[in-house]
Amino acid sequence: MKENKFKVKTICCIGAGYVGGPTMAVIASKCPNIKIYVVDLNDERIARWNSNDLSDLPVFEPGLDKIVSQCRDKNLFFSTDVNNSIKEADMIFLSVNTPTKAKGIGAGQASDLKWIEASARQVAEFAEGKTIVVEKSTLPVRTAETIKQILSSSRKNSNEEQHNQEFSVLSNPEFLAEGTAIKDLQNPDRILIGGEDESSIEALAEIYQNWIKDEKIIRTNLWSSELSKLTANAFLAQRVSSINSIAALCEATGANVNEVSNAIGRDSRIGNKFLKAGPGFGGSCFKKDILNLIYLCKFYGLQEVADYWEGVLKINTWTQNRISKAIVQKLFGTVSGKKIAILGFAFKADTNDTRESSAISICSNLIEEGANLWIYDPKVNPKQIELDLNIQSSCKESISSWNTSDSIIEAAIDSDAIVVLTDWEQFKYVNWEEVSSVMRSPSWLIDTRNIVNHENAISSGLRVWRIGIDN
Ligand code: UDX
Ligand code: UDX
Repeated sequence: MKENKFKVKTICCIGAGYVGGPTMAVIASKCPNIKIYVVDLNDERIARWNSNDLSDLPVFEPGLDKIVSQCRDKNLFFSTDVNNSIKEADMIFLSVNTPTKAKGIGAGQASDLKWIEASARQVAEFAEGKTIVVEKSTLPVRTAETIKQILSSSRKNSNEEQHNQEFSVLSNPEFLAEGTAIKDLQNPDRILIGGEDESSIEALAEIYQNWIKDEKIIRTNLWSSELSKLTANAFLAQRVSSINSIAALCEATGANVNEVSNAIGRDSRIGNKFLKAGPGFGGSCFKKDILNLIYLCKFYGLQEVADYWEGVLKINTWTQNRISKAIVQKLFGTVSGKKIAILGFAFKADTNDTRESSAISICSNLIEEGANLWIYDPKVNPKQIELDLNIQSSCKESISSWNTSDSIIEAAIDSDAIVVLTDWEQFKYVNWEEVSSVMRSPSWLIDTRNIVNHENAISSGLRVWRIGIDN
């Protein structure tokens, strides 16, 4: 491996969110000689990153507090001084949020790049000397082109000679999943670096080589790197939609989706991960990234390709609606006035994140049907549930028909059904005899994650419906 001349000594990361914070903390812990500034416009968020109370960090990830306490104020600094941090840095990561556009051209599909553009303009104004700009946020393909244009136009202004500016743009997407972010960063399957200038690519590769073997570092052109991130999430989401579509067929034919998943997953060409049937995928990335891909395809005139990926989203919505309908149907065709206990509201286990959680649409559907929901989730804040359910305008009139609960038993008292929506570990060990004794019979257990001890539930007198299993 030949020695690279450009050495990164100072990093600035714009955006101290879910991606920027943990990523920089891990780089700081692995590269004690690099000084890292994580900056954000949001001063409350920065204050929490600097809080002495490590349980108050703005992002909860197992292991993150320990790393922050080891590195903070040594080589890891959280600050709102964006301009000076840009000035000092040889490498700048852009980790600001890129939500789906709410209005204007591409509304509902394209990503809103206003924060990326604003950050690039700030970099153009304050950077000095050679600066490598790294896209960390998930971005539409060819965003690097926009960033390059903004940066290069600044060279034409009077700062050029004074600050001797020289920019290079890289794409280095993040593949961490919530709940396992630190593990994913410390031991990634691969690191992807896209760029045009070899010296800059190698400068970033050298940082990762401090703890990751070079074989795991993939170098591509800029556009392949940007597209690979969207494609990775689209493929993962597609697997979930695929198995959810098969789950419905299993129920119709008498097959068992767990057995089918196991049988196909043993084929090494298919692999056994991401084959769990459920209530539909949620989370901040999958839907947003597929919408982005669809928008791109349409932009380039590839309508059939857009339709193909749209199918993945359609199956997801259909799965959520299918579950709501199955619940109504099991309860003799009506849930009006009936109490239903909901177990789990987060989009997956081990997180308090509810963004795009299937629980939001399933609960909203049931509320619309007149059900009285009692929702229990071990980590999600009741205020968040209120926010999520209130934004569904169709539910406004029946706002009083849902409550949050502190325990499974409280939620279950006098209920006609219990619906498991999140795969929390504790739901595997529920004492169904105790729970069924407080319910109104005939009582149902609807397991959309296939995690409960169904034998125990059946022997306790519950009628059990499990997703993808002949019921
Ligand atoms: C990340 C990625 O960046 C996004 O592309 C991906 O699709 C989802 O994950 P995330 O870290 O989850 O986003 O976003 P968030 O937690 O909202 O953090 C972004 C931060 O950037 C916020 O703290 C916001 O205050 C900050 N920000 C935004 C700036 O500092 N400057 C800006 O101009 C805009
Ligand atoms: C995802 C990607 O995994 C990660 O690489 C990317 O950087 C960000 O988006 P995340 O959204 O945190 O991470 O969650 P993930 O574990 O991928 O799960 C997404 C959704 O799919 C969840 O709702 C989960 O419950 C669901 N899922 C996942 C299934 O229903 N079945 C499965 O087999 C796997």
